[in-house]
Amino acid sequence: MARRDDERLVLGIETSCDETAAAVVRGGRFVLSNVIASQHDLHAEYRGVVPEIASRAHAERITPIVQAALREAGISLGELDAVAMSCRPGLIGSLLVGVSAGKALAWASGAALVGVDHVRAHLVAGLVERETSPVSESQHRESRQADCFGGRAAFPALGLVVSGGHTSVYRLTSSLEMTRLGGTIDDAIGEAYDKVAAVLGLDFPGGPLVDLLAQTPGADERRFSFPVSRLSHGPGGDQTLNFSFSGLKTAVLYAVKGVPGARDGKGALEMTDANKADVCASFQRAAVSAVMIKLERARAMHPECQSLLCGGGVTANSRLRRELTAWCGKHSLSLALPAMEFCLDNAAMIAALGHRALASRSWRGDALSVTASASGTVG
Ligand code: KG4
Ligand code: ZN
Repeated sequence: MARRDDERLVLGIETSCDETAAAVVRGGRFVLSNVIASQHDLHAEYRGVVPEIASRAHAERITPIVQAALREAGISLGELDAVAMSCRPGLIGSLLVGVSAGKALAWASGAALVGVDHVRAHLVAGLVERETSPVSESQHRESRQADCFGGRAAFPALGLVVSGGHTSVYRLTSSLEMTRLGGTIDDAIGEAYDKVAAVLGLDFPGGPLVDLLAQTPGADERRFSFPVSRLSHGPGGDQTLNFSFSGLKTAVLYAVKGVPGARDGKGALEMTDANKADVCASFQRAAVSAVMIKLERARAMHPECQSLLCGGGVTANSRLRRELTAWCGKHSLSLALPAMEFCLDNAAMIAALGHRALASRSWRGDALSVTASASGTVG
């Protein structure tokens, strides 16, 4: 007998970049398992993801990771109602590994198959929760403070994706229907974090390390007045919701390495712990301000929005989490802020969006001919 919608079990698969991940989610909301094998160690010496290395590692890891996710969830392949996998956007060789695995598993088990847009999936990461939470009580309380948490958000909603590859703002009428209001015209915010970390000689990916140094007691976030891009006018004279992080990144480079050809004593900064902490705190203040300015602008342009859905690796950032929470409180917006384990690339969000897509289509899935695409549908 077919299961009720809130009991359906979906296996999610995520291989769009450098995380091989699989998860089982019940009812589009409760996470029974969330297994992630990061490849950071393989790419660290190149200070960025090497596509060929990434796809080979996915091919080696995908089967044991899926097995681990099923084992941890305590279910067998035959019990799955659907298999959802990221099929766009991302590194094409990496996506193809997950798409092929998803097809094989759906075909072998008789489960429905659905291809999911990875960036859209980040927006539902705040709508899932552990069935029995291993996260700390305080993190759990933090997740629960949002009144749209609980699997349902209030629409229309604003959406924010901040990751290593994307920095975009959306207006959503459901978790499946959205319009992109703006995005970065150069670097993504996570990319800027990683490049600043590289300039400071920190490991890859550097976002979490910059965040940590920025929180050093006594760090002076006003020591360097790094630029906060506002991009106040679009080509049509409208207020734009686009972002730019390359100017900020270059300003940090010059502050640390010195301004090329400068004769006014602006040489390289001594790399003491205190100087590094000041650079990180000042950079973090500027980067997060740039996001908050655009969110405020989006809210003013779309006052009918009732909540904010957000996701992507940079939603793990301590300052951004604090400011998003305060801003939503001030404007009485519900906030779906992902628990820490669902900020970075993960397969629980893929299963959650796959569940919603299938529910809207009465569980008629994609044909086995579904394929991967390097580019996305919503940017
Ligand atoms: O969503 P994600 O795992 O992958 C992409 O889809 O890009 O995001 C990874 C990005 C990296 O750039 C990483 O440095 C950044 O998220 N990141 C952070 C933090 N944790 C991860 N950036 C700032 N602060 C953090 N705490
Ligand atoms: Zn991502």
